[in-house]
Amino acid sequence: MLGKITTVPDAPTNSTTFQVQLDSQPASFPASADQTVLLSALAAGHALASSCRNGVCRTCICRLHSGRVTYRMEWPGLSAEEKAEGWFLPCVAYPASDLVVAK
Ligand code: FES
Repeated sequence: MLGKITTVPDAPTNSTTFQVQLDSQPASFPASADQTVLLSALAAGHALASSCRNGVCRTCICRLHSGRVTYRMEWPGLSAEEKAEGWFLPCVAYPASDLVVAK
């Protein structure tokens, strides 16, 4: 089942921490709800590809196998179809649940 992607402009910040599992890695890593998935991955030592880090270039695009993310920007560089298929941009996506991610 693909994860649900929700856009929530001006979402409130909080300190909830979720677990993110990259399908290429044996262990999960913590990801705070008020930090992007990319920054949490980098802090945990996972070298996810990135370039612009503002949701434009799509270098970081990944797919959710499960979980939900939110965006604080109105429309990250994804089509509605891509969002529906589970694609997301970790550089501008914030975890809203535990995530399982395909790189
Ligand atoms: S690094 Fe450019 S869209 Fe994520």
